[in-house]
Amino acid sequence: MDDLSVMILLIEDDEDDYVIIRDIISGIHTWRCQLDWVSTPENALDMISSGQYQVCLLDYRLGEKNGIELLKVMKQKGFDAPVIMLTGYGDHETDLEAMKAGAADYLEKGNLESTTLERSIRYSMDRANALKAIRESESALRALSGRLVEAQERERTRIAKELHDSIGSNLTAIKYILEDKRYRMGAANIPQDGPTLERIIELVKETMEETQRMSTNLRPSVLDDLGIIAAIQWAVRRLQEVYSTISIETRMDIAEDDVPDNLKIVILRMVQEALNNSLKHSGADKIRLCLQRNNDNLELIVEDNGKGFDPEGIRSKSDDGGGMGLMGMKERAEVYGGNFRINSGMGKGTIIQAVWSLHPGAFIL
Ligand SMILES: Nc1ncnc2c1ncn2[C@@H]1O[C@H](COP(=O)(O)OP(=O)(O)OP(=O)(O)O)[C@@H](O)[C@H]1O
Ligand SMILES: [Mg+2]
Repeated sequence: MDDLSVMILLIEDDEDDYVIIRDIISGIHTWRCQLDWVSTPENALDMISSGQYQVCLLDYRLGEKNGIELLKVMKQKGFDAPVIMLTGYGDHETDLEAMKAGAADYLEKGNLESTTLERSIRYSMDRANALKAIRESESALRALSGRLVEAQERERTRIAKELHDSIGSNLTAIKYILEDKRYRMGAANIPQDGPTLERIIELVKETMEETQRMSTNLRPSVLDDLGIIAAIQWAVRRLQEVYSTISIETRMDIAEDDVPDNLKIVILRMVQEALNNSLKHSGADKIRLCLQRNNDNLELIVEDNGKGFDPEGIRSKSDDGGGMGLMGMKERAEVYGGNFRINSGMGKGTIIQAVWSLHPGAFIL
């Protein structure tokens, strides 16, 4: 289909109205208009499945049925060409209802002329094209975001490995050599000026522990060695060591194989951030963490009984460089096709929820 022609589907149960609209359309000269006519919702749904129409004119009253109901079904079926509602008589409420259901425009048949219809079709198609372009660029951005998240995790894994294998093992060797030296020199020959050998060995040990901590934070090896369930339990244990008076209840109703591999690190990072937020900001004494399979969905919930906050307020703050945690969680969840929600309010506690579909093909990466 070129820019000079337009395929129009008219859904209209009254043949006389069809004839009138056909005549009005024949007065449009901007494009070559090809009009197909159907009179029942069933035939309309059959016709739109071909994907060939660029615009649809839909009668508001289809016999006993309401055109808006059909419009909703068409939208559910993914029909994304503009739909212009036509009505015998117009009222403001129906107009609003039609717009809410996704109609591109709403025209009264009594006032319909070729020029009005031509303009409505032109505007609707322009808007639909602009929306399509926005959707395409959003999906390209999401794919790019996904690749960035993956690249960041790969880089973290690489640095963690280097820290562990190279710096970590050199430090182990240095500590061994120093301890060996101290043993061979014997207490009598150890120089008394400057830092003692004990102090140097102590410093090397501290540096080894720090390196180990950095490496674990960059990429917890427990995730690769034992999986997501063990990694979450490990993360919770680590936090409980520090925040021993706060109860963190963990429920994991999933099997390791339920969680797609590339989602595991995403879930672990989200769990760490959500728990850290509850512990740092909420003043809660109870946190509940749940990872479960719900039919074909994988659901992560972190809930606290703390003081809560206003998510809208945070959103506007994050535009000028506020916290990265909530934004990062949302981005990570959505990059893998998930749905991210924050349910919170002053004095209400906080629920962080992410849901991913486990349907084959649901993962974009
Ligand atoms: N569970 C929670 N209870 C109460 N307030 C919260 C909770 N989670 C987040 N907040 C509020 O939302 C703000 C933003 O959280 P976010 O995780 O984005 O940033 P941050 O934790 O302040 O910093 P960052 O995560 O970048 O270190 C927090 O500063 C806090 O005011
Ligand atoms: Mg945070």
